[in-house]
Amino acid sequence: MSARIIDGVGHARRLRADLSTDIAEFLARTGVQPKLTVILVGTDAASRLYVANKARACRDVGMQSVTIELPASCTLPELLSVIDAANEDTTVHGILVQLPLPAHLPVRAVLERISVAKDVDGFHMYNVGGLVVGSTVFSPCTPFGVQKLLEAEQIPIAGQNVVVVGASNIVGKPTALMLMQKDATVCICHAKTRDLAQFTIAADILVVAAGRPNLILAPMVKTGAVVIDVGINRLPDGRIVGDVDFESVRLKASHITPVPGGVGPMTITMLLHNTLVAARASVD
Ligand code: GUN
Repeated sequence: MSARIIDGVGHARRLRADLSTDIAEFLARTGVQPKLTVILVGTDAASRLYVANKARACRDVGMQSVTIELPASCTLPELLSVIDAANEDTTVHGILVQLPLPAHLPVRAVLERISVAKDVDGFHMYNVGGLVVGSTVFSPCTPFGVQKLLEAEQIPIAGQNVVVVGASNIVGKPTALMLMQKDATVCICHAKTRDLAQFTIAADILVVAAGRPNLILAPMVKTGAVVIDVGINRLPDGRIVGDVDFESVRLKASHITPVPGGVGPMTITMLLHNTLVAARASVD
């Protein structure tokens, strides 16, 4: 078997074209242009690149975006006052604080300061709680992108055995909750899981978000499984790879996402989607 390679770039392009149309219509109808404020603390190179990509994606679909850069030495009160100003600014519909933050800043206190109605990352505890009870306003962008890819590929979710490798707040836990909400039977594995292969081999849909290159090898994958690789790892030779050994696993899976070009483009697309949802809610 050779897997169908899921074209995240193509799916993202189609969704962004639809978003551009929806944003133009919304602007014409209401006079409001959706606006995202991104707050970047410090000089982490990867974070800078992600933030620049988010700003460009906003412009490409006709949204406004503002990036506020703060020094790594920024104090908690300084950061909270920047968030407060964006919360109060009625022209801002979405607020995103790029993670990771410098170690001296308490992540939860920062995320909880963002207005629930502008929390387009879906990281505020209220929105996380919404995922748990199945009443979501903003779904976290990467898990939402995974779900959209599965839907776009017409891969059934209900009743399937889903194994999520990685239990982070950003990807693993919300992905598990969202797919459980779609009636999958979900298992979460993490760094302390004993005999990972025993779990992964049972997966009809395997979602891997562990941040470890080559964690998933072909013998760990069921024949015909759908493999979604959320990992983004830079190797010493500069290559970007996921967490899955793509070349061997593609011979066993029915579908597989490449890295780059799989889940990555969907994450920003869902951020744009959430920002439009926030802008619509602000005028209704
Ligand atoms: N860092 C890595 N992924 C994300 C994300 O989805 N949102 C934010 N705010 N920071 C991140």
